[in-house]
Amino acid sequence: MNELTVLAAIEKRRSTKHFRPDPIADTVLNALVDAAAEAPSSWNFQPWRIVLIQSEPQKRALSAAAWNQAQIIEAPVTFVFATSIGSWRAHLPQVVETARAVGAWAPKMASMVEQAAPGFQEALGPRLREYTLKDAMIAATHVALAAESLGLGSCFMNGWIEDDIKRVIGAGDDPDIAIALLLPVGHPAETPSNPGRLPRKRLFSVDRLDNPYQFRPKQLRSPRDMAIGLVHLPRMMDKVRLAARGELPGYNYLTTGFDKYLLELLEVTPAAFEAAIAAAPNDDAAIRWIESNTAAKGLSAQDKEAFNKHILSIGPTDERRRQRFRVLLDETDPARTEVNSFAELIDLSEGRI
Ligand SMILES: Cc1cc2nc3c(=O)[nH]c(=O)nc-3n(C[C@H](O)[C@H](O)[C@H](O)COP(=O)(O)O)c2cc1C
Repeated sequence: MNELTVLAAIEKRRSTKHFRPDPIADTVLNALVDAAAEAPSSWNFQPWRIVLIQSEPQKRALSAAAWNQAQIIEAPVTFVFATSIGSWRAHLPQVVETARAVGAWAPKMASMVEQAAPGFQEALGPRLREYTLKDAMIAATHVALAAESLGLGSCFMNGWIEDDIKRVIGAGDDPDIAIALLLPVGHPAETPSNPGRLPRKRLFSVDRLDNPYQFRPKQLRSPRDMAIGLVHLPRMMDKVRLAARGELPGYNYLTTGFDKYLLELLEVTPAAFEAAIAAAPNDDAAIRWIESNTAAKGLSAQDKEAFNKHILSIGPTDERRRQRFRVLLDETDPARTEVNSFAELIDLSEGRI
């Protein structure tokens, strides 16, 4: 299996509530441990105490402390992300020494940490607990995304009683130990649907809270824009140029959707199209190449009109795609119920309509 990219893992990850009993290979489990260990933390103090719950009696005890949630019983391992609130005092000398020894921190930086960190940490008072939990949440996110990238599933979990979890991991009523999160990991026995997200413009803003964020890509034209009488052609050229610069992350590209239909119409391969766009200094040159080297030259006005009509009217064709379309529309603007084609959805999400 190919490991997923970070963006693909983020897109694919869902909260998995049911797991197959198959074990996780030791090498894979250790990669997850490494992913947690590599997480950043405030001052690099790594305050976590992460417990891998694997035995049947411990799974049962942990599940009982988490409202009997079944995923803990079913998953071959549940990571308990605990922290030691005061651990920075014991961790500081080695953290500074290692970073200084390997040259990652210049002597000035190492001394600054030695001098400044204790005051910073002490001044946090009771908030130090919260600060260690922030660090642990980042480590948990590393594990969830690494697991996803390796074909495993996970479920972030808040539904538990802290004192009970502490007893299960052997922290009794130690006030120094705090619990951030539980994360069962295993081979998914289900493919949960994406429950959707709130509209971006409600949750993201620019500079100030009252200025909603709107994606308005300057280098991407609308799918409705035309060149040589064909919709989507200017946009596809834009996508190829962006991709060549590594600036088209996460997009489906050339092998699917409008791109695929247009390349099929032109009877040109993705590689040949990319090479032609790379060689063309501007749109005019690219279009000259398309007109003389592709099936474009044989297309009648009617052929082009039929293609355009088809592309601009494509909407979701089955229940699964309708649900996905609904999620994408709700993430953009749920009030725009008149939008029912992908071309309109693209224009809406890119701030053109
Ligand atoms: C901090 C946190 C705690 C959560 N706690 C639980 C939980 O105790 N049990 C559960 O089944 N799901 C839990 N979830 C999963 C959320 O319900 C889920 O992430 C959300 O519905 C979005 O679904 P998705 O993860 O598939 O995108 C939790 C998620 C987060 C981030």
